[in-house]
Amino acid sequence: MLVTGGAGYIGAHTAKALDEGGFFPVVYDSLSSGFREAVRWGVLVEGDIRDAGGLGAAMDAYDVGAVIHFAGLIEVGRSFVTPDLFWNVNVTGTQVLLDVMRPRQIGRLVFSSSAAVYGDSGRGVLEAIAEDAPKAPASPYGDTKLAAEALIEAECRDQGLCGVALRYFNAAGADPSGLIGEAHEPETHLIPLAIAAALGRAGPLTVFGDDFATPDGTCLRDYIHVNDLAAAHVAALRADLPPGSFEALNLGAGLGRSVLEVVEAVARAAGRPVPYSIGPRRSGDPASLVADPARGAARLGWRAAKPDLEEIVTDALRWALGPAYGEGRKEAPAQAAADPNRG
Ligand code: UFG
Repeated sequence: MLVTGGAGYIGAHTAKALDEGGFFPVVYDSLSSGFREAVRWGVLVEGDIRDAGGLGAAMDAYDVGAVIHFAGLIEVGRSFVTPDLFWNVNVTGTQVLLDVMRPRQIGRLVFSSSAAVYGDSGRGVLEAIAEDAPKAPASPYGDTKLAAEALIEAECRDQGLCGVALRYFNAAGADPSGLIGEAHEPETHLIPLAIAAALGRAGPLTVFGDDFATPDGTCLRDYIHVNDLAAAHVAALRADLPPGSFEALNLGAGLGRSVLEVVEAVARAAGRPVPYSIGPRRSGDPASLVADPARGAARLGWRAAKPDLEEIVTDALRWALGPAYGEGRKEAPAQAAADPNRG
């Protein structure tokens, strides 16, 4: 299985799940944001997603049977600054991949899409999102995911590919082994930032807005354990889907958690408070993104096995306390070491 972007957060967890499922992951990654140390299962081929020659050589060398496509730029905020780069990597990159797969008759593509394709588009704040909800991305990042889905859907219709776009809600947590976990540079995601604040490794967390029309005024998100996401990719490879079909499926637990609920869960897990202040809203943040996961359950026989926020946060904390990629074990935080099993 070719896993583009397999040295990244969700890609590395999926490579592990593939290995455990009896597949051989061929990780294709430029290492521009992924980590060599995250590739512990299968092999690493270094290359850019826009490099047709490199992609084709990897597919030929390993006789690739299907592709899982994670490679892309992910930071919503940065997408407002360099939208053209996001279109180039995320959309052109996907087209290059399809063009390289086609003559090799590789029949299945599982694509890393996002709840960002939905945006805010006028639904009730507590309303779960089904796949046929209006698509109104609130950021250039979301635009590029929707455009890449359209390219894949056209390839399915016109060329007989079987495509599955998995629209992740908020990927979170880490593999309980502590071997792989979330590592972004710079880190912009809530749970790792809240953990860093609790451990005194970073300044206080800024909560982006408390004036949303939600129960406590902070944004609602559907946090889904990264092991659950990984399992869904393996299920999408195995699913009985015909050539020429295209499925877009939400991957979430179906539970909305507020920013302040996450802050409290991190504080309980770490055994110390998360220092925070309330700041202005961040551009492109919808008030609420909560999945209706029914279609994924029907098509893939998949559901979130680890929906519990405490478990998600505890796994993220264990990873944060262990050795980072390319480093020795991190120094203990200034005060007493947090107990990842607590809470
Ligand atoms: N948040 C804060 N402070 C921070 C960081 C985040 O309050 O320092 C809030 C955000 O406003 C949001 C929630 O915490 O309400 C979660 O934010 P993340 O940055 O962790 O995740 P996002 O919901 O912004 O992003 C996720 C995926 C993206 C995807 C997006 C869809 O990581 O890939 O959902 O909106 F595009």
